[in-house]
Amino acid sequence: MGASTMLSILMTLVERDIRHLPQFRGALLAWYGSNRRDLPWRKTRDPYSIWVSEIMLQQTRVAAVVMRHPEFLRRFPSVQKLSSARESSVLAAWSGLGYYRRARNLHAAARMLVREHGGMLPRDFQVWRTLPGIGRYTAAAIASIAFDQPVAVLDGNVERVLRRLIGGPRSAHESWQAAQLLLDHDRPGDFNQAMMELGATVCVPAAPRCGVCPILRFCCTRGKGASGAAKPRQRTREITYALARRGDSVFLIRRPNDISLMPGMWEFPEVKSLNISDGILFSLRHSITVTDFRVRVVASHSRKKREGRWIRISRLDRLPLTGLAKKILRRADLIQ
Ligand code: ADE
Repeated sequence: MGASTMLSILMTLVERDIRHLPQFRGALLAWYGSNRRDLPWRKTRDPYSIWVSEIMLQQTRVAAVVMRHPEFLRRFPSVQKLSSARESSVLAAWSGLGYYRRARNLHAAARMLVREHGGMLPRDFQVWRTLPGIGRYTAAAIASIAFDQPVAVLDGNVERVLRRLIGGPRSAHESWQAAQLLLDHDRPGDFNQAMMELGATVCVPAAPRCGVCPILRFCCTRGKGASGAAKPRQRTREITYALARRGDSVFLIRRPNDISLMPGMWEFPEVKSLNISDGILFSLRHSITVTDFRVRVVASHSRKKREGRWIRISRLDRLPLTGLAKKILRRADLIQ
């Protein structure tokens, strides 16, 4: 780190009344102690459980991960179990969480850890970074929460807290430096989670709840003029799928292996043009990232016979299904 950049951040902090770093840390940690959400991965120091949670949380809301994390751990209770599983069952367990590359990387990383580290999870931030799917943020989160390593995290929430608190680091590099400077070295895992928690529940983008903020007295903007990043605009798309049944089977197709979105996962065939005879079974909504899908499901015989297979309903739980395919199956009362 350049001495002059460091100096300028320090100056900013001092000017903004953060010379009382111990008080600042104490206030944040005390608030976290009594306000932290009761989340499954916070009940344990097991690094494997914490690792899985951090991968799930990369692109998925806490509320969705709360349900799925314990299920995944029941199915793959250790790094050894995960490494010896087939990729298709890992993807099946990930179904509905989206961004399936995370599941493939998690599986590949488990195999590397078993092969090259005797199944031991590393303490060191730098070793975590060498594993697939683990960037600076995730490595810091795992190393600090599971192993008390003094490395700061910076995600969107923490960045917003910092921007308001010290009036805006100018670059990502400066944000990392500021986060590292503030970090409590005695309780780095709690401190990092407290910053994330504050951003998620109090220092929220549109209307920060400054009235309940534990670090308001250290904050240089106090909610003024800081509206956070603008929400990306949602697009709406209409789409129709064919739900064809034959006896106790349904007709599904497998997405190609060479596409970036959900490669190799199973879904219902799309219907591009409706026939008079296609009866609409039901409609539902499905949102992914910036698109709201209005989904129509019709009772139709697929016109893409060669690309798909009849799958027995009793075997569906062994197949990596897309989240939307699962939703359709549930809505049709074919799975739970
Ligand atoms: N987002 C990512 N990791 C988190 C954690 N450990 N607690 C709360 N939110 C998070």
